[in-house]
Order: sequence, then structure tokens, then C-alpha cells
Amino acid sequence: MPKVAASILSADFSRLKAEVEKAESAGVDLIHLDVMDGRFVDNATFDHTLVAKVDSWTSLPLDVHLMVADPGNWVQPMVEAGADYITIHYEACPEPRTVLSDIRRRGARAGIAVNPDTPTEQLASLFPEIDLLLIMSVQPGRAGQEFDRRVLAKMAETKRQIRAAGYEIELEVDGGVKPELARQLIEAGADILVAATAIFQADDMRRAIAGLKDEDV
Ligand code: DX5
Ligand code: ZN
Repeated sequence: MPKVAASILSADFSRLKAEVEKAESAGVDLIHLDVMDGRFVDNATFDHTLVAKVDSWTSLPLDVHLMVADPGNWVQPMVEAGADYITIHYEACPEPRTVLSDIRRRGARAGIAVNPDTPTEQLASLFPEIDLLLIMSVQPGRAGQEFDRRVLAKMAETKRQIRAAGYEIELEVDGGVKPELARQLIEAGADILVAATAIFQADDMRRAIAGLKDEDV
């Protein structure tokens, strides 16, 4: 069964604590935090101060997705705020080894993310440095976009590469993920499914999360 990460981007920020608590009691495994700086992507969201607040509201691991132009500057504040996973974008940082090792040295799990149009072949040399590989299935920057089906083949191929190389790297998919896609995503090798809209805009959050895990509901 995959893990499900709830991205707070589609939550009601006027009652965010209650939203996070609701997601936790409805069965999510991780809270996913989309940090945007208005440079790497057009939108800007929040920084480590909100991450620290979320950490005080939940016992779930925090999965911080850095959509920022200079990820190296964000690592220390995010770890201090309680981040358990920190993922940086390959497009922002084509020589990411120093930042990835800094993330691990500070005690968090290190992730690398790729946009839908970025190939993953060149990431194999980074396998020893990462704990998570995030494949974006929408252009980063906002919630509520349509899942890009082209990434299914990329996920399966990446999973094959990871297995063949013998690494314990979690494969995460993010963008347009909804319960109807769960089975295909799991078959393509997803270990972690990220969803914002499908969780926080659902009529029945518990049912949506069970659907994302491809459980009978
Ligand atoms: C997009 C973010 C995603 C987003 C997912 O830039 O990285 O995590 O919140 O939103 P949905 O699930 O609505 O596509
Ligand atoms: Zn994300």
C-alpha cells in the first residue's frame, strides 16, 4: 500500500490547524508542504515559520517540497522547523550534491524532484545521495491541475532503474493525483502519492484517502 501525503495547498488556511488534524485522523501518512518563492515558480507561499507551526500541530512526518531558486539557503531553517523530508528541484539545482548531503547531515531525508518534461535518466548518478525521488505530474506552482499521463511511463522506468541499482529510494508522485488514478500510480511504482485538491476539497476526506491507497471503499 502506498503512503499518502496531504498537500496543504488546497486546505482552508483560515482554519489550517483543524484541517491538518482532520487529515491526520482521516489516515494520511505525511503532511506535504509546498514552499514557493515567487522566483523558481511565479507563486509564493510560505516559509519555515509555517512549517514549524504545522509541526506543532501534528505527529506526522513533514514532507517539504522546495520550489525555490536557491534551495541550499532553505535547508537549515526547514530542518530546525521540523522537516523530515526535504526535496529540492533538479531544475533549480543541476549540481545538487552539496545541498543533498547537507540535508542528510542535518538529519532529514533528502529528495530530488523533476518537472514533467525533465528526463530522469541523469538522476541515476544521484541515487546514492537521495532517499526520495519526486516526479511531478503537473507543472509546479499551483494545485488543481490535470494529471499529465505521460509521466506514468517515466515513473515505471525510474522505479526499474532504482530497483536495478539496489537502492531504497521512495518514488513520489505529485500533481493532479486522485483516487481514480491510484491503481495506475501504484502499478507504475509510486510509494508516496501527494494530493491537495483530492483530499482537502473532498466531500468525504476519509474515503478519498482510502481511495488513494486503492483500498476498497
Ligand atoms: C504543485 C504542488 C503540489 C500541489 C498538488 O506545485 O507541488 O503538491 O499542491 O495539488 P493537486 O493535488 O491539487 O494537484
Ligand atoms: Zn508538492
